[in-house]
Amino acid sequence: MGREIAHVMGHQAAGWLERPDRETEERTDLLVEAMQLKPKEVVADIGAGSGYFCWRMAKLVGSEGRILAVDIQQEMLDLLQRNMAKRQITNVESVLGATDDPKLPPASVDTILMVDVYHEFDQPYEMLRAMHKALKPGGRIVLVEFRAEDPAVNIKRVHKMSQEQAKKEFTAIDGLNWERTIDVLPQQHILIFRKKSAAK
Ligand SMILES: C[S@@+](CC[C@H](N)C(=O)[O-])C[C@H]1O[C@@H](n2cnc3c(N)ncnc32)[C@H](O)[C@@H]1O
Repeated sequence: MGREIAHVMGHQAAGWLERPDRETEERTDLLVEAMQLKPKEVVADIGAGSGYFCWRMAKLVGSEGRILAVDIQQEMLDLLQRNMAKRQITNVESVLGATDDPKLPPASVDTILMVDVYHEFDQPYEMLRAMHKALKPGGRIVLVEFRAEDPAVNIKRVHKMSQEQAKKEFTAIDGLNWERTIDVLPQQHILIFRKKSAAK
């Protein structure tokens, strides 16, 4: 679809995801707030890495909610579970995905979150099709990517995405629609895509 795909970030670099100034640089607190998670929600964090967002979201969905932490690197999932244990978080489950399949049951997830990961999927179309299947009717995808349109965002082009490109790729999936873009973050877009509700 006219986009260069980035390399997958290796687990050796996981420390970068947990750097102390990430919250102030990326305002990850505003991102979590913008998601407006509700108790009992089932959230899949695709490309969860070290679990930076998992425990933050786990607290918001509560003991009756669940976070499914999907990654293709077992080393990341091992680190993630150690990080959850340190924080005594018990509602985060690890799922070892494949590059074309997050291995989630059909119609099982309310919200899918992807932070700085979609641009490095080897097989984005296959992943999108599978994620769409895993969403419950009316479920949403929250896509967070560094803004390609913004010259002030000073990272490699291949690690950024434009809204136009994201909309083109996501809405190529029948039944997945762009709903809105939330512009509260200093460097990233938050795009919300919604799966059609079941016909009434
Ligand atoms: C840059 S890290 C971002 C981690 C996390 N989302 C965060 O913001 O802290 C990208 C992660 O996506 C994972 N990843 C890459 N392709 C994937 C795929 N097809 N399915 C699941 N995870 C994938 C990588 O293994 C890596 O852990």
